Amino acid sequence: MKLCMIGTGYVGLVSGTCFADIGNQVYCVDKDKNKIDKLNSGISPIYEPGLDELIKKNYNANRLIFTTDIKKAINSSDLIFICVGTPTKKGSLKVDLSFVYKCSKEILKHSTKKKIIITKSTVPVGTGDEIEKIFKKKKKLFNVISNPEFLREGEAIRDFRYPDRIVIGSDNKNKFKTMRKLYSPLISKGAKFFTTSRKGAELIKYASNAFLATKITFINELANLCEKTNINVEDISLGIGSDTRIGSRFLRAGPAYGGSCFPKDTKGLVSAAEKYKTNLSIVKSVINSNHRRVSLLTKRVHQILGKNLKNKKISILGVTFKPNTDDMRDSTSLKMIPYYCKNGAKVSYYDPSGEKKEFKQIKNCTYKKNIKENCVDADLIILLTEWDEFKSIDFKKINKKKNLKIFDLRNLYAPEEMKKNKLQYYSVGRPNLN
Ligand code: UGA
Repeated sequence: MKLCMIGTGYVGLVSGTCFADIGNQVYCVDKDKNKIDKLNSGISPIYEPGLDELIKKNYNANRLIFTTDIKKAINSSDLIFICVGTPTKKGSLKVDLSFVYKCSKEILKHSTKKKIIITKSTVPVGTGDEIEKIFKKKKKLFNVISNPEFLREGEAIRDFRYPDRIVIGSDNKNKFKTMRKLYSPLISKGAKFFTTSRKGAELIKYASNAFLATKITFINELANLCEKTNINVEDISLGIGSDTRIGSRFLRAGPAYGGSCFPKDTKGLVSAAEKYKTNLSIVKSVINSNHRRVSLLTKRVHQILGKNLKNKKISILGVTFKPNTDDMRDSTSLKMIPYYCKNGAKVSYYDPSGEKKEFKQIKNCTYKKNIKENCVDADLIILLTEWDEFKSIDFKKINKKKNLKIFDLRNLYAPEEMKKNKLQYYSVGRPNLN
């Protein structure tokens, strides 16, 4: 089939590349010429394991075309995917849909024959109806469908190839057939093909992210209780997660959830519900609890190092919101590092995805090129992101300080092992063995 992805951000580029890989011809369009030039010379603008190779393979097979020429891309395709950003409006919970509407107007302007328009961007309930209004002048040419994306950063290619479900929302049942054909290589491998109304699909996306964020926040609050009662939160996750009605995934206690989706989509859902005079009090509590968690864990450093952080050497391992991504959006590190520096600590950090522009201007914060350089003279090492290369660090070997302290926000290490190695070890929601 002939597809056009408008927007080569995370969603557009990953799904466009994967659609090409299952045999479609895919135009990936972006107005950012720099990005398109990079892609045409084989450089991916985002960090995603396996994506570079897949782009090269499909580009060389002429199935993947990168261009700024939206007119040509639209006219060469039957299915047009809207994959532009839907950020939160500054100072509000509302979703900024200006990019979605702008690109719908471009589609209207350039289309001369029938097209199926598919929103892959995360959009609030009723956005499809608004897009349809934009198309009303040539309404016979367009069918607007919702096909939300459930890819996780760092696991996106696997998630595309083996999705739990494919959700298609359309008020025109005839269009399900086309979408089923597009996804047939994945359906034949076992993916569930789920159809619903267009608004239903739009809400499923928000409800999924809000529910997952609720699970994480729930276990994070229980972790606080576990710390006070000397219980291991991992036992609680296992104990409740073994009940198939609850499920074991997304019950890992840790720092506040971050990234480009959960913080944005929980707010977007609350704001959409307010439009319909509905109070989503649970989701509101989740948003507030997650905010509190950032400062709760940041300030826990005082229980470990004392009130005065002046000249204390704090080394951070991992600053992205999760492993296998270079994404810094809503990462706990963005609050933690400035707080420690402001309070006089000397902070260094190492992240496998490289140095971050967010910390370049911060006094007393330095980037180190590897684990050893970062940790050699630390008073406290904070493990913030569970990258694979942090799993088996010999702390005693790389730091000779007698009273070295470790604060593990991802429960990556075994407390018993740490105790045996005479390290003062703190983790999240587990009994303190110090
Ligand atoms: C999330 C969803 O999982 C995807 O299904 C969805 O497509 C995507 O948002 C989106 O809307 O585009 P993503 O933000 O890439 O994906 O990352 P997740 O793996 O979901 O992690 C989000 C946050 O939750 C991270 O900060 C992670 O560390 C945290 N988390 C996750 C926990 O603290 N505990 C867990 O058990 C799982």
